[in-house]
Amino acid sequence: MLIKKCGVVSALILPVLLTGCERAVSFDSQVMPILQASCVSCHSGSGEGTQQTELKLTNYAQLMQGTRLGAVVVPGSAASSTLYLVIDHKVDTKIQMPPHHDDKYPQGQGEPLSSDQITTIKQWIDEGAKNN
Ligand code: HEC
Repeated sequence: MLIKKCGVVSALILPVLLTGCERAVSFDSQVMPILQASCVSCHSGSGEGTQQTELKLTNYAQLMQGTRLGAVVVPGSAASSTLYLVIDHKVDTKIQMPPHHDDKYPQGQGEPLSSDQITTIKQWIDEGAKNN
């Protein structure tokens, strides 16, 4: 029963990637390493991103706390989540993350995330943004 339900849901969401029942994306082992490598340098302590927005990306609790303006993750809807919109080139180039179209930040220019990394984060949010 459980397996069947899982298969149906996955088939709707991931028709192409599917080879069986896709496992849920893990925050700890898949999402956090991306944030660690590409975001934490600016989004922690005295980094530019934290200074300007109060957004810290050092752990789940801080990510979910968001910026001084509020949450950047809407569990279940990547399309409504600032965290996803800024990495998937859906916003003005000036606020894409990591900033890679200008050099005004002391931490330097970031490399855009790969499409695999973007998909991982999108899927994690769409699956409910769990602390898993
Ligand atoms: C080079 C420094 C730097 C890096 C690397 C960086 N950021 Fe940022 N981030 C900033 C700055 C500065 C701001 C505030 C910019 C602004 O609002 O124009 C910001 C703002 C944000 C915001 C808030 C946007 C909003 O309008 O509310 C989000 C979400 C964000 N960053 C996510 C990320 C993610 C995810 C990564 C890694 C993929 C990342 N950032 C990497 C510097 C950085």
